[in-house]
Amino acid sequence: MIIVIDYGSQYNELIARRVRECNVYSELVPHDISIPDLKAKAPKGIILSGGPNSVYDKNSPSLPKGLLDLNVPILGICYGMQLLAHELGGKVTPSTNKREYGKTELSIDDTTDIFDGLPRSLTCWMSHGDSVTALPKGFKVLAHTSSVPYAAVGDASRHIYAVQFHPEVVHTNKGMEMIRNFVHGICKEKPEWTMASFIERQVKEIREKVGKGKVLLGLSGGVDSTTVAALLHKAIGDQLVCMFIDQGFMRMNEAEKIVKMVAKHFQINLVHIDAKERFFKKIKGVTDPEEKRKIIGNEFVRVFEEESKKIGHFEFLAQGTLYPDVIESAVVGDVSKAAVKIKTHHNVGGLPDDMKFKLIEPMRMLFKDEVRKLGMELGVAEEIVWRQPFPGPGLAIRILGEVTPERVKILQEADDIVLDEVKKAGLYRILWQSFAVLLPIKTVGVMGDQRTYMNTIAIRAVTSEDAMTANWAELPYELLGRISSRIINEVPGVNRVVYDISSKPPATIEWE
Ligand code: XMP
Repeated sequence: MIIVIDYGSQYNELIARRVRECNVYSELVPHDISIPDLKAKAPKGIILSGGPNSVYDKNSPSLPKGLLDLNVPILGICYGMQLLAHELGGKVTPSTNKREYGKTELSIDDTTDIFDGLPRSLTCWMSHGDSVTALPKGFKVLAHTSSVPYAAVGDASRHIYAVQFHPEVVHTNKGMEMIRNFVHGICKEKPEWTMASFIERQVKEIREKVGKGKVLLGLSGGVDSTTVAALLHKAIGDQLVCMFIDQGFMRMNEAEKIVKMVAKHFQINLVHIDAKERFFKKIKGVTDPEEKRKIIGNEFVRVFEEESKKIGHFEFLAQGTLYPDVIESAVVGDVSKAAVKIKTHHNVGGLPDDMKFKLIEPMRMLFKDEVRKLGMELGVAEEIVWRQPFPGPGLAIRILGEVTPERVKILQEADDIVLDEVKKAGLYRILWQSFAVLLPIKTVGVMGDQRTYMNTIAIRAVTSEDAMTANWAELPYELLGRISSRIINEVPGVNRVVYDISSKPPATIEWE
């Protein structure tokens, strides 16, 4: 594997993903990792990420002590480069309030190693304050720009390389080739990390861990839980029991579709709990968004607990935790610590302490795009693999005001039309999310000769990379027009449709 040491760059995950795109496994570790921990991972190469600090800052993160004695190839990126220069006896000059930021022409002076097979001139992405102004002994210049004489440097005899720009971002032309050159050429890693090999290893590990025990998995029908179900089923077959709880706030015909798909396609043990009535009773009269979420979350846990006790004793609880969740909970590099903590997720968050499960999280080292690949490899339907995210509390947080079965039905019908038209327009995969929201206001309209006083539906469609930020989507007018006229004509009780043109921040994607 190739280790990426995290110095706080916004691109640190991206570096690990790029290495994995070379079919070589990569992990992100904190900069204070100890050398024994690092050695235990037996890395074939180490990448030092960029970061917001200056090597001259008080308390700025440094290289793990003894790192340079490991004799493993190193690539420093941006702050990583400055750290190497600083530690190895070169000179780093602090910026005089000037940050170089953006695309720059890179002239390559040495087309071996990192730049093997690349043209002499490329565009690269710079984003730095400080820069290296004198090289450590043994280093030579590999590339420069008009303002940065040491844009890429290296000491081939020690296999230490450093670049001031960011090869991991798409704005750097041939950046992926540079990473490939480091991974395959310099670190000599073979491209052996594939989804097929991942499945093989996980199946073995899951079997060893579970033995003859039983595993419970809460299935929502989204890509993560469905893929984890398929993987576990491949490993342990009938020892896996999936529980699907229908709280009544699913999309139109969703519950039936999920049950049919999982049971028929995978022959997985599936317990389908119809808890609609319970949920509707609990949520009756509630209009406050946070209260709604709390009630739904608590009730979910209660149903999960009650129903799982009915179907037997489970030693293990499986979860579709992904790598960004692991990174976010700041437990990177310490898998054992992380495993103790049940993810605070709407589905299983806050399970009572006396429900003592051992956790199984076979996808905890995967990124979302890798989960999709895994799902495809395991035969999960394309429709699920490419599904847009759907919130745990479901349509309940898209019905502003009181949630009743009648209002759920109106929203289900409107939502179904939105999805149908978005799919027909070929935009479903391009959009992060596209859905309908039922507003708590009625407005006046006219249908035929009759005055109407009916519900308003808002359409929400956004593009996003990771849901942290999102832009409202510039849907074609014809598409918006078709959605609007179909909803007004086909959904009883709706006489007005509006389009939400707010981005996140300051708005959020969901309305509640
Ligand atoms: P917001 O509305 O905060 O949503 O911009 C960001 C992303 O998170 C999803 N979301 C949820 N997902 N349980 C989930 O599993 C929830 O309670 C929940 N609330 C919001 C939302 O759909 C969007 O993709």
